[in-house]
Amino acid sequence: MSLVRKRVLVTGGAGFLGSHLCERLLADGHDVLCVDNYFTGRKANIAHLLANPNFETLRHDITFPLYVEVDEIYNLACPASPIHYQFDPVQTTKTSIVGAINMLGLAKRVKAKVFQASTSEVYGDPTVHPQTEDYRGNVNPLGPRACYDEGKRAAETLFFDYFRQHRTRIKVVRIFNTYGPRMHPNDGRVVSNFIVQALQGEPITLYGDGSQTRAFCFVTDLVDGFVRLMGTGDEVTGPVNMGNPHEIAVRELAERIIHLTGSASRIEYRPLPQDDPTQRCPDITLARFLLNWEPKVALDEGLGRTIEYFRQLLAGAAATQAE
Ligand SMILES: NC(=O)c1ccc[n+]([C@@H]2O[C@H](COP(=O)([O-])OP(=O)(O)OC[C@H]3O[C@@H](n4cnc5c(N)ncnc54)[C@H](O)[C@@H]3O)[C@@H](O)[C@H]2O)c1
Repeated sequence: MSLVRKRVLVTGGAGFLGSHLCERLLADGHDVLCVDNYFTGRKANIAHLLANPNFETLRHDITFPLYVEVDEIYNLACPASPIHYQFDPVQTTKTSIVGAINMLGLAKRVKAKVFQASTSEVYGDPTVHPQTEDYRGNVNPLGPRACYDEGKRAAETLFFDYFRQHRTRIKVVRIFNTYGPRMHPNDGRVVSNFIVQALQGEPITLYGDGSQTRAFCFVTDLVDGFVRLMGTGDEVTGPVNMGNPHEIAVRELAERIIHLTGSASRIEYRPLPQDDPTQRCPDITLARFLLNWEPKVALDEGLGRTIEYFRQLLAGAAATQAE
């Protein structure tokens, strides 16, 4: 429980990461205002928080100005998976850039600290591994991912210009792959894909020979990093990488999920897409040094909790269909 109760705004609060952040901030004793336009977020993600008198929600699109009195702002609003952010790329760019301007303007007016959920995608298709925060990235400004990558890069620029020009107190985190309960079941991410396929007894589709590695951070670990960064002094602005540096081959991930779900699914191999990176892994030296932060939840434990969530979600969907 935190000593000072703050009024905290979480944009994208009904999404995957946002709903866990709202939960954590309430548990720390703060007043939380969750703002969301429900593009990819779900009311079900925050339904269990509605009875808490310190929790409030507002349907609002952050591309429009917002006037509220708060002490801290966590700006998470933005669709995060390629399927979702490419659905309406112009709106994705607007959410990143106009949304950042609106949240920075609000922070400036009410003298709030403001946190930006940036992404490892600002490194684009990196030419160095692993990426440290001073690597400037290799983003294609014209491709279908650019609405997200360039939107997030421009948002970082805005954060640092508000910091230099207006002394706005900013915190920027670059998030790497994160998983956990309340991920979207159909967003094409490897963890949710494999779990849903395993639970439904369908073949697990694996691209390439599965030797490519990925690193996954459990959501509560990431949220703990957010809160630690927000709690630092004004001289700490970031950007700070956050993710799990522990790599696992995608084939091993599939095998673990089959084991943990007790599924009879087999692995089905498909050709590797051309732009699939063979390796993606964060360098979190800076987060360790500045925040004494590193992921703690073991993969099997995190997968177990995520599988339980999807089991209930799929059972609920099946029950609704049967009605
Ligand atoms: N999940 C990850 O692994 C990951 C990795 C890197 C960065 N991020 C960043 O973290 C943030 C949260 O991601 P997530 O995984 O929770 O995604 P999510 O899609 O579950 O959550 C995003 C939320 O923002 C809301 N939203 C979208 N546009 C909005 C707008 N214009 N106005 C108000 N609300 C809007 C959505 O409805 C949703 O609730 C995003 O900014 C994303 O770019 C996530």
